[in-house]
Amino acid sequence: MNRKQLIKKYIEFFKSKDHKEIQNASLIPENDPTVLFTTAGMHPLVPFLLGEKHPQGKRLVNIQRCIRTVDIGEVGDIKHHTFFEQMGNWSIGDYGKTDAIKYTFEFLTASLKIPLNKLAASIFEGNSTSPKDKESYSILLELGLPEERIAILDKNENWWGPAGKTGPCGPDSEIFYWISEKPVPKTFDYKNENWMELGNNVFMEYNKDSKGNLLPLKQKNVDYGGGFERMLAILEGHNDNYMTEAFKQIIQKIEQLSNKKYEDYKKEMRIIADHIKAATFIIADGIIPGNSEQGYVVRRLIRRAIKFKKELEIKESISKIAKPIFKIYNDYKHLEKNKKQILKELKQEEDKFEKTLEKGLKIFEKITKNKKEISCKDAFLLYQSYGFPIEMTIELAKEQKIKVDETGFKKECKSHEELSRTASAGKFKSGLADNSEQTKKLHTACHMLNEALRVILKNPDIHQKGSNITPERLRFDFNFDRKLTDEEKQKIEDLVNKKIQEKIPIEMEEMPLDKAQKSGAQGIFDDKYKEKVKVYSIGNFSKEICAGPHAKNTSELETFKIKKEESSSAGVRRIKAILK
Ligand code: ALA
Repeated sequence: MNRKQLIKKYIEFFKSKDHKEIQNASLIPENDPTVLFTTAGMHPLVPFLLGEKHPQGKRLVNIQRCIRTVDIGEVGDIKHHTFFEQMGNWSIGDYGKTDAIKYTFEFLTASLKIPLNKLAASIFEGNSTSPKDKESYSILLELGLPEERIAILDKNENWWGPAGKTGPCGPDSEIFYWISEKPVPKTFDYKNENWMELGNNVFMEYNKDSKGNLLPLKQKNVDYGGGFERMLAILEGHNDNYMTEAFKQIIQKIEQLSNKKYEDYKKEMRIIADHIKAATFIIADGIIPGNSEQGYVVRRLIRRAIKFKKELEIKESISKIAKPIFKIYNDYKHLEKNKKQILKELKQEEDKFEKTLEKGLKIFEKITKNKKEISCKDAFLLYQSYGFPIEMTIELAKEQKIKVDETGFKKECKSHEELSRTASAGKFKSGLADNSEQTKKLHTACHMLNEALRVILKNPDIHQKGSNITPERLRFDFNFDRKLTDEEKQKIEDLVNKKIQEKIPIEMEEMPLDKAQKSGAQGIFDDKYKEKVKVYSIGNFSKEICAGPHAKNTSELETFKIKKEESSSAGVRRIKAILK
């Protein structure tokens, strides 16, 4: 079975169980200040897991592109990736544990014909806040799993979420597959690496608040997430995700360019393939390599890939290695559409790094000569003057059995504003949007700003290119090719403030996508998704497709003020604004 067939099979299966296919969202979360990337299919669904009504209903399914940088150190083995696709199905306050587990098993054993004898599962043993998951245990037995194949584990193993500090979470039930050629053992041992986790049903019944309290949610949800590449490997009969259709052509390209065999350089080739794929997808979603936030993650991925590329003595650019990615993932239309730009960014970042890499490596040699540890100052020098991400310094040091003063390095960085904003803010981990009153108001201000830009700049082709809201400020990106004048900024502020004073109620209506489009609403229109969407209107002034939530009336907003207007990337401007 190939990649596209597996996608189709999964979506069709859940459609036959009355699920609706939802859009594969951007890797860059919208309106979510606490995460850098979409790390699971549930991210874009947080408001709905917390109780908002989803326009497409209570049963949802999709395959979602994801980035997880926490696993970056594990990349190099058979199954870890920074970019992956996640198979997801959800009950938003609809079916419960029994149906969820039944669906998972029916899909695996009946639809994909995976023998039950190769499967095992785990359930939550219970603690003072949440009871033992007896329901999942009973249904697993009923489905034919013997007792020895069901592990009863604690919170470290069988609890998922919240993805960040706060948000939906709950006990989960995981499902495992025996990947080895050896006979399947009678008893399941979750510590045995040959039992590979295929996915988990998370029973999202709690919301963790900022004080750490677990509050029962109004509705009980199920969030299933399965590793797509792992499933593909099993179905294609490989014991290595990098041999599947999701990677094979990239690996072959690396073999060809290096004139070396995958057999002999598995780790290096896997890292290069993984990192370049992740960088390609992140750039496709509008990020360019830089020194902060998502841009810095792309930079780290590219630079780490280049380090390994050098080890394999590949002369050609990483943009050559990226080319097969566009073939493998030709169902992602935005990838092909931005191909030229993506390849250009990869090449540019490589050229930039090449300029300092050789010098940096020489300095590295000097620094480490007859030493057991690299000091924080030297690590910082390598970072700041030669562009070495800290992981790279650590990796190079490890090869020579030298330590790096990582703690000292981080301290040193604190004085370096841009890096500290990402690294020490803990943003490489994930987290979830807060739906506080202030973010709701700023979200409404974003819609008004979007419209005011079109009106004041007299350009109906201006559209949102990205946004990010924290309780303190909004950030809004839009296509425009020059700096705004002070007069224009003043006029935009005045128009938004006028609308605030007009005390306009904000209304929400659900409608099919084509109707929303015809009504002139702003938003992304994708032919594949003709389902219902939410349209938020602010009187006759603004109309946008949006998941919400918003203020109820513009009068709730304080005075709108633009703090900064700057270039974000080629042809894209960025405004930072506040309500005070
Ligand atoms: N959200 C859960 C996960 O990513 C399903 O594992």
